[in-house]
Amino acid sequence: MAFDKASVRDAEVKGRRVLVRVDFNVPLEDEGGERVVADDTRIRSALPTIELLRERGAALVLMSHLGRPEGKPDPALSMAPVAKRLGELLGVEVKLAPGVIEGDVDLTCGALGPGDVLLLENLRFEPGETKNDPKLAENLAQLGSVYVNDAFGAAHRAHASTVGVADYLPAYAGLLLEREVTELTKVVESPERPLVVVLGGAKVSDKVGVIDRFLEVADQILIGGAMCFGFFKAQGIPVGDSLAEGEDEAKEALERAERSDCELVLPVDLLLGREFSADTERKASEGVEVPDGWMGLDIGPRSAEIYADAVKQAGTVLWNGPMGAFEMEPFAGGTRVVAEAVAAAPGTTVVGGGDSVAALNQFGLEDQVDWVSTGGGASLELLEGKKLPGVEALLDAEEETANA
Ligand code: 3PG
Repeated sequence: MAFDKASVRDAEVKGRRVLVRVDFNVPLEDEGGERVVADDTRIRSALPTIELLRERGAALVLMSHLGRPEGKPDPALSMAPVAKRLGELLGVEVKLAPGVIEGDVDLTCGALGPGDVLLLENLRFEPGETKNDPKLAENLAQLGSVYVNDAFGAAHRAHASTVGVADYLPAYAGLLLEREVTELTKVVESPERPLVVVLGGAKVSDKVGVIDRFLEVADQILIGGAMCFGFFKAQGIPVGDSLAEGEDEAKEALERAERSDCELVLPVDLLLGREFSADTERKASEGVEVPDGWMGLDIGPRSAEIYADAVKQAGTVLWNGPMGAFEMEPFAGGTRVVAEAVAAAPGTTVVGGGDSVAALNQFGLEDQVDWVSTGGGASLELLEGKKLPGVEALLDAEEETANA
């Protein structure tokens, strides 16, 4: 199904002030006593929308959350480092508003000219943001006359800045949001076959919705990461000291897989460690039984090869979640083999989820996949088939044409 929401490309913005929701929820780090952006991927991903609006003569009021400050100001979560980084990327000054709506924010907005960019303070400094408080939404809406949502990563949240504000202003999809929804929907609805889904990460419970959906539409689901121990436990296989949760959900998924045309594939060998640390004693397992006193910290080389072969033969690959504790070099092998296979795969390749994206970056492969999603929870919910409130709130494409 084609993306059916009104696009920022069709919005009348010349000489107008446009309120743009972005997802600048980025990691920060300390550098010489200063808070700086540690990974600017999400900021760079919003540049096409920001640049399009500036080129078309709009003044921009950008807004985002950062972390979870729970409704009160927290200087450690100020947007100041983000405004600085965005200014460097755009090559123009990005002003930081003194607050979200209070103080002189409206005056600051009123002084913006075409092409100017202002960033509001962290939306979650306001208690009404996560409650989708209509008063906050109305106050935000007064800062512009058009609303654009480019915050795909926050589109699964029904908050004042992602949903409420659309009650007061004509609401358009930003370019990133549109592309994210299009790419991820295509994987589920019209993939080139075979569709191979590689799922990893710590918990079965985080991915059970995605497993359910892909048991219906994928050809193969390959499981790695600590979540495989939930599956092994469900099969009565000893897991030693491995992190193993979601046994009941795993059992149900195994039963559904029996009745489905999709093959659910588990590792055939593992790399074990004594403890969760890089310099712990380690050994390869023969099969997948983990003795007491050991824990599984990566898939083994035979499993990695099987997974890499499946990926190379796929028409479409979706990868979400690492195969092991890749942040520790001795246990990065399985994730690296899978990442390299995804990067080299001739089919369409889509990667989502913070950890698998971090792994791609760690191996320098991020430019070699077709689409890297900026959404964690949002991409999983979309893939599960859930409607994203931040997308639903936007004008339908037809409505927009009728209004024009
Ligand atoms: C994310 O990083 O997944 C989004 O920015 C949403 O953040 P949240 O989980 O704090 O709502």
